Amino acid sequence: MVKKVLVILGSPRKKGNSTILAEQITKGAKSGKAKVETIYLHGKNIAPCKACMGCQKKGSRGCSIPDDMQEIYLKLIESDAWVIASPVYWFTMSAQTKIFMDRCFALPAYRKDPFRGKRIGIAMTYGDDDPFTSGCVNALRAFQDAYGYTESPIAGMVYGSAMDAGQIRSNEQVMQEAFNLGKKLVAE
Ligand SMILES: Cc1cc2nc3c(=O)[nH]c(=O)nc-3n(C[C@H](O)[C@H](O)[C@H](O)COP(=O)(O)O)c2cc1C
Repeated sequence: MVKKVLVILGSPRKKGNSTILAEQITKGAKSGKAKVETIYLHGKNIAPCKACMGCQKKGSRGCSIPDDMQEIYLKLIESDAWVIASPVYWFTMSAQTKIFMDRCFALPAYRKDPFRGKRIGIAMTYGDDDPFTSGCVNALRAFQDAYGYTESPIAGMVYGSAMDAGQIRSNEQVMQEAFNLGKKLVAE
């Protein structure tokens, strides 16, 4: 069966470095015959979680906030694999990415066990030259904890140093790793 991959872009830069890594992952996934859809979070109307806890109530029909996250919930549920691509902002993931992650709290109100078994790919870029001092490792750890908790296996995490938009292309190794991650995400 054709695998479906949903790519979530957390950078405001449409041609930024984390997006370029996500494109490589997409190419890898498509080479494995997957169907890929990409969502650019920036500019969408996605409010932060307001902790009303409505989504946690028995019989809840979902998140009470009527914004663009509603259609993303459905796409998340329909996909076999998710790719989260984010720049490092202030030693962790971007705000756009974090708001998206928080709002996923409501996903179990749409479908039982929505996370279990989803395959996850992570792509991150940072301006510092070290993944630890940049804060990239903080974000990677947050993803590991989140998707460990939800029992969603992380197929791989690709990350590299690049400050200016597009600079990541000169890192041939990480570009290849990203392509390979895409293939792995949709492999049997
Ligand atoms: C608001 C802001 C905060 C940033 N914070 C960090 C940081 O804490 N550590 C770091 O290494 N780079 C930081 N950077 C640099 C970006 O992570 C880097 O340029 C990255 O490649 C951007 O990815 P993008 O092109 O996908 O947006 C920051 C950039 C901006 C605009």
